Amino acid sequence: MHAKASSILLIVGGGIAAYKSLELIRLLRGAGMEVRVVLTKAGAQFVTPLSLASLSGNKVYEDLFSLTDETEMGHIELSRQADAIVIAPATADLLAKAANGLANDLASTLLLASDKAALAAPAMNWRMWTHPATRRNVDVLRGYGMAFVGPNEGPMACGESGPGRMAEPEEIFAALRARLADRPKTLAGRKVVITAGPTHEPIDPVRYIANRSSGKQGYALAEVARDAGAEVVLVSGPVNLPPPAGVRLISVETARQMAEAVESTLPCDIFIAAAAVADWRTEADAAQKIKKGFDGPPALKMVENPDILASIARHGANRPRLVIGFAAETENVVAHARAKLAKKGCDLIVANDVGEGTGVMGGSENAVVLITPDGEQAWPRLAKDEVARRLVAHFAQMYAAEEERGGA
Ligand code: C5P
Repeated sequence: MHAKASSILLIVGGGIAAYKSLELIRLLRGAGMEVRVVLTKAGAQFVTPLSLASLSGNKVYEDLFSLTDETEMGHIELSRQADAIVIAPATADLLAKAANGLANDLASTLLLASDKAALAAPAMNWRMWTHPATRRNVDVLRGYGMAFVGPNEGPMACGESGPGRMAEPEEIFAALRARLADRPKTLAGRKVVITAGPTHEPIDPVRYIANRSSGKQGYALAEVARDAGAEVVLVSGPVNLPPPAGVRLISVETARQMAEAVESTLPCDIFIAAAAVADWRTEADAAQKIKKGFDGPPALKMVENPDILASIARHGANRPRLVIGFAAETENVVAHARAKLAKKGCDLIVANDVGEGTGVMGGSENAVVLITPDGEQAWPRLAKDEVARRLVAHFAQMYAAEEERGGA
């Protein structure tokens, strides 16, 4: 039986590098992939719809409001049908639109309407690429799961030289192949429960205690575990992230609600505690806003919150086969994480340094150390979605080993 050929949606933006996208189409088709091209208005200044259509063997889509296109294939369908989206060349303008959720032409609308992370091959003048606005847009898009290939350094059409040349078609093709191959269904049939984000512990109806967790790492894990075929439940504290498609999301505020929500999802096969749960809450949650009084600031008495990770790891009959914890430390990362592994009774601790200046909390990158009772391994600093991909592959391997040891 032949596996279904991958279907690629290629967005061609406006840049001199657009001519290289013709070669990219040839490579994709050569590998048996189906290619549909969306050409932006600016892109059409550099390559013609006719060359793109001839090479892709499909009609080229240019217009958001084309009734003919809509009757043939609605624009939402166009992105839903694709296994992957590639943007080449990805101009500064396209990246800015995607980072800000603009949807004023077909390409930007498709990117906003899609639940697939795109692969972008940026091409622009090096000053545009290094401008803080583009840096911020790239960071935001990485956080949404977009992957980047290039740009490369070298001479550019404008006569200047620097980072901004679009990656070569072969490089884009290889990056795409790696992304598609990266998704073996290693967790098919498994139920994975993940906690993510901070918790908010109320002081009174308007004030709360929180922390700087963005939830990015937990959300990225949920998406990768879903792509690996797992049934995923994401128990999330308050975050500013879109709910991942195809994942059951339970939104909570406090540690106690999170603990209760996690309990309600058992049994599961893998539990991943990626949330930054508040260790303490105030003993009394005032029913009314605490007033500024004459007797000075109020003294808040703190009490301990339930430790979700420790209670799931010691759950007796319902203990998931694999229980994973995270440790955000600001000093002696490995030593503290190792102590936590024993204290919590989990199988693996993913430790990271969130100390000042590391930019990990709320940022898009993470450098982790994996700690098990048998040893440890340190990984290089990587984008959080890449960390998520590697972690899920690692968890799947551990799960399979545990299963073999313990019997199915
Ligand atoms: O003790 P600490 O908060 O550093 O431990 C971190 C690990 O424990 C994380 O995996 C976190 O999600 C989990 N945790 C928990 N419930 C708590 C506190 C931490 O699940 N109340």
